[in-house]
Amino acid sequence: MSGYFENKVAVVTGAASGIGLGITEKLLSGGAEAVFMGDLKEENLKKEADRLNLAYPGKVFPMQTDVTKQEQVEALVKAAKNHSGHLDFVFNNAGMGMTLPTEQITFDIWRFVVDLNLMGVVYGTYSAIPIMREQGFGHIVNTGSITGRIPVPYQAVYAATKAAVVSMTESLQYELEAEGLQFSTFCPANVITPIFGNLTPPPDSVTVPDAIDYIFGEIEKKAVVIILPQSARDFEALYRLDKPEFDKFARKLAAERRENYRTKGTYY
Ligand SMILES: NC(=O)c1ccc[n+]([C@@H]2O[C@H](COP(=O)([O-])OP(=O)(O)OC[C@H]3O[C@@H](n4cnc5c(N)ncnc54)[C@H](O)[C@@H]3O)[C@@H](O)[C@H]2O)c1
Repeated sequence: MSGYFENKVAVVTGAASGIGLGITEKLLSGGAEAVFMGDLKEENLKKEADRLNLAYPGKVFPMQTDVTKQEQVEALVKAAKNHSGHLDFVFNNAGMGMTLPTEQITFDIWRFVVDLNLMGVVYGTYSAIPIMREQGFGHIVNTGSITGRIPVPYQAVYAATKAAVVSMTESLQYELEAEGLQFSTFCPANVITPIFGNLTPPPDSVTVPDAIDYIFGEIEKKAVVIILPQSARDFEALYRLDKPEFDKFARKLAAERRENYRTKGTYY
């Protein structure tokens, strides 16, 4: 890794687990000055921050944060800026998965997922923008998903929030790059993390370190939309370039999931 993360101050949300924890570790091993770890789960946050603090003393700052609460996200971002006067990275990563048949989705579920997966990212982004505009630099990285780039059956709610994250990020890049700001959104397919709960991650899943290595390489190159792994890039290209073939794939997936829900009560 080059010096892109060296002596930088970063915020990471959803930092106590999975991809957010991987981002935090990568920032620290890349020479970051300070990482402000936000997560809802205080116990996990303390455990991981204590562990990382042994290896990187004085560089790890856990703050319990609910990203659905604008004032809590703003406090996290401001604390990072106040640490030494600059804010280099904000990773708006906290989020959840949601794969369910439509008839099980209530409007309360819609609001809950939108609040977490979209508004949580909006709050982090809009807390950081004025600070980064004033200093004339900064890189905001929002966690999307491959479902934000291609339609996926039984994931309408999740896909809607992730598509919004992706298009907001791309739009802001064009709006604010002239002021020195950089935006990226990464869109993984399956990454092995606790997000799968009791389910075994699908066989084509990638590990957190492999995902993070690829993502960080692309962040350094200032890529705006980062899709991984290669199989997801292939599907995304199929969707854009050969819609009839993509339709066949998506209809087959819908049929498989329909059958799995009918026979096993789950989608795979
Ligand atoms: N793992 C995958 O396959 C995958 C694929 C595509 C996208 N993603 C996205 O990656 C992000 C991280 O997911 P992960 O797989 O690491 O899951 P994870 O469950 O391991 O981690 C998510 C973290 O977010 C925290 N969190 C939940 N609600 C929160 C809130 N209101 N405020 C603050 N923190 C909160 C959780 O406590 C947890 O520590 C999510 O946005 C997810 O949608 C994951």
